[in-house]
Amino acid sequence: MFEHVPGYAGDPIFHLNEMFHKDPRQQKVNLTIGLYYDDDGQIPVLNTVQRAEQQLAASTRPRAYLPIEGDHAYRQRVQAMVFGENHPVVKQGRVATIQSVGGTGALKVGGEFLHDAYPDSQLWMSDPAWENHHDIFRGCGIPTHSYPYYDPTTRALDFNRMVASIRSLPPKSIVLLHACCHNPTGVDPTPEQWQTLITVMKEGDLIPFFDMAYQGFGSGMDEDAFAVRAAADAGLSFLVANSFSKNLSLYSERCGGLSVVCATAEEADRVLGQLMAVVRRTYSTPPSHGGVVTARVLSDPDLYRDWQGEVAEMRNRILQMRERVHSLLAQRVPDYDASHFVNQVGMFSYTGFSTQVIQRLRNDHGVYVLDSGRISVPGLNSRNVEYFCDAVAASLR
Ligand code: LMR
Repeated sequence: MFEHVPGYAGDPIFHLNEMFHKDPRQQKVNLTIGLYYDDDGQIPVLNTVQRAEQQLAASTRPRAYLPIEGDHAYRQRVQAMVFGENHPVVKQGRVATIQSVGGTGALKVGGEFLHDAYPDSQLWMSDPAWENHHDIFRGCGIPTHSYPYYDPTTRALDFNRMVASIRSLPPKSIVLLHACCHNPTGVDPTPEQWQTLITVMKEGDLIPFFDMAYQGFGSGMDEDAFAVRAAADAGLSFLVANSFSKNLSLYSERCGGLSVVCATAEEADRVLGQLMAVVRRTYSTPPSHGGVVTARVLSDPDLYRDWQGEVAEMRNRILQMRERVHSLLAQRVPDYDASHFVNQVGMFSYTGFSTQVIQRLRNDHGVYVLDSGRISVPGLNSRNVEYFCDAVAASLR
């Protein structure tokens, strides 16, 4: 029956992560998947998450189905976090938000919704993109293309070409954007550049879709939401997928949100209905445990304040590692320009290492970097950062 079914080529990120774990060498460094590790190399269980779980464990909760759109408090807190507590679009009821199965689930539901609403629309994403973006949207039946984004010669944003490309798109094209901490490059537009992009998208009658998986890992919770809030201020209708995998360290709980900003509250109500229709035919209703924990941390003022501190701690450790790599490489390979390690932001750095360097790092030193040259910076810590820089120095020679 299934003789014709091809094998799965495998996911490039998960596959390399598995290869790392199978590598028997003692001295090895995992810079593959976007997981935040603390300075001891552990995936933290945040203190605020532990406290929320302890509070919840004190009472027994029957496990009835959640509503199709998810938990009410969760959805409200998602809106406050993404748009800001008192943003007019939230106050006017113009945002349709569902609790989603991680950020990926939000992209999928958003993609299906858009394909139903605009069956002829095609989607453009940055070049390079997160490995999974093309597959998610093609899986929704939406043809995908790329716009220029990253200039490998400057290791920075190719803004003029990006804007020119987006400006040339047909009306109602979908433009996928990383709201902050671009994956894989770590290169973000400046606030001024975002304003230009927002104007171009408004004039071109385009449909922005923001993927915000790393809120808090760039400059701060509010700072990282700049693009989304500026688009809302400008009166655009658009989508935002957000995730709690990273900033609450709740990867396997699959907690995310999808928000669609609409022109009126009445429109938002209809859009919410269509999002619910997609959810109902896909997985019916969201799972509850991670959502209840998330809603508790985001709703309780003490937990929320302490959580902001924990996010800042994770963000600062990433910054420290970036600075460490920059200064260590400056000492070890003086003719190598390592400034991109400090200029890029968020979880990822796009190293620009050649295929040969990437192979040497992996084969000779047990340092696992994605084939694209992306590294997940929190895989570095005070015990392995010198080893990493020694390995880079040796591999660059
Ligand atoms: C990554 O890019 O490594 C993360 O977003 C994890 C994933 O699902 O790929």
